[in-house]
Amino acid sequence: MSLPSKFPKTFKFATATAAYQIEGATRLDGRGISTWDEIRAEPGRIHDNSPADLSCEGRLKYKEDVDLLARIGVTSYRFSISWSRILPDGTLSKINEDGVQFYRDLCLLLRDNGIEPIVTLFHFDMPLAIYDNGTSWLNRENCDHFAAFANLCFERFGDLVKTWITFNEINMHAWSSVVKIEGELWLCPDRPQVENHSHAPYIAATNMLLTHAKIYQDYNKNFKEQQNGVAANRANDWLFNYTIEPILSESGDFPVSMREKLPFLPKFSEEEKKLIRDSADFIGINYYLSHMVRNISDGEVPTSQHERDASYAFVEGKWDKICGETWVRYAPDGLHELLKYVKQKYNNIPVFITENGCMDLIGDDEKKEEEDVLEDKHRIKYIAGHLEALAKALEEGCNVIGYTVWTLMDNFEWDDGFAVKFGICRVDFDSPDKTRTMKHSAKYYQTFIREFKKHH
Ligand code: NOJ
Repeated sequence: MSLPSKFPKTFKFATATAAYQIEGATRLDGRGISTWDEIRAEPGRIHDNSPADLSCEGRLKYKEDVDLLARIGVTSYRFSISWSRILPDGTLSKINEDGVQFYRDLCLLLRDNGIEPIVTLFHFDMPLAIYDNGTSWLNRENCDHFAAFANLCFERFGDLVKTWITFNEINMHAWSSVVKIEGELWLCPDRPQVENHSHAPYIAATNMLLTHAKIYQDYNKNFKEQQNGVAANRANDWLFNYTIEPILSESGDFPVSMREKLPFLPKFSEEEKKLIRDSADFIGINYYLSHMVRNISDGEVPTSQHERDASYAFVEGKWDKICGETWVRYAPDGLHELLKYVKQKYNNIPVFITENGCMDLIGDDEKKEEEDVLEDKHRIKYIAGHLEALAKALEEGCNVIGYTVWTLMDNFEWDDGFAVKFGICRVDFDSPDKTRTMKHSAKYYQTFIREFKKHH
């Protein structure tokens, strides 16, 4: 039995992007200033020193990109709606109709091409005005503004979009952004909302969870047939379960191990527990690698981690373990184990793999031939290995409903700028029209999906 034929007919094969990472056009159609516009404007802040206006120009080239998606043959496309493009100052005081029209056009074109739009409402960037209004997710008032934005999206795009993801990686955002990027290094060193800075990620995550739950309940009341989930990241109670357990467990609360160790963790009221409990139809998992963890006796976080099985280099057509260098991390067996864990712990709730992918092995400084960049054998192996892990999990009864390759094209990789490339399509950033070319991995995915469709 071939690998593609092991996937059920309803299985979704997707690829993904995020607004800030591909759109560019930051001043077009009345878009407001976003947090990442500011971060990028700070000299030296982004590792590759790329100019602040460099982008894939995804906003302008969306028709070409839908065509690319259609050629690859994906059943679904996950992208995010930029809060700043819809509500320039983050609040309902001004709705930017041109921004609304853009995303409607995109969704319509996707649907015309038989591709299901899957929308993430928060993928790391927010209107600067909201951030400044008391440091992003640390201020509950901002959560209300986001809920209003979400409801507006349901209203304006609900006829075209049936699958929604509220937050991308609550854990990563709480830990890396709210504290590291936006807190210590960037805009707002004195956080008036929290007494102790080290508490900030927990407060931010709690607020994001509560906001997720409110949004879920709102649309369940008003927009019934849709699906709503949260995209999380795998590690342990601290880095994985805490964003899921309040939603999926009977208790409607954080894991007991966290409650015991973190006395300052905000307490949910009975009403809030009711709001949070069961507030997801599926969970989205962004899976890249796993960590080995061990118990340590003291300290706030009771585990320490190192990367599972070190790192791998792709040598002569296969993955070889290497030591001492950071190459692509490859641990598809970790995905299989994670899916079995979720099945058992969370009553086999549907799981959507909302991201999985790896970076190019060639650094920007090494000038390689175009053909070397396009011939990304290691990425093909990486994707195939994870698809095999999924097929195995499906055979064992895990309720996996979809798989998403991160990412459609090379794009702005946050702190790393454009130096780190995850795309299955190459973007020529030196060309005036930012030409896209399918790498071999895109062709592999294309063939895989073609075979899957032929089978059903
Ligand atoms: C997960 C994030 O959601 C995405 O924005 C990022 O580009 C990838 N990881 C790769 O680092």
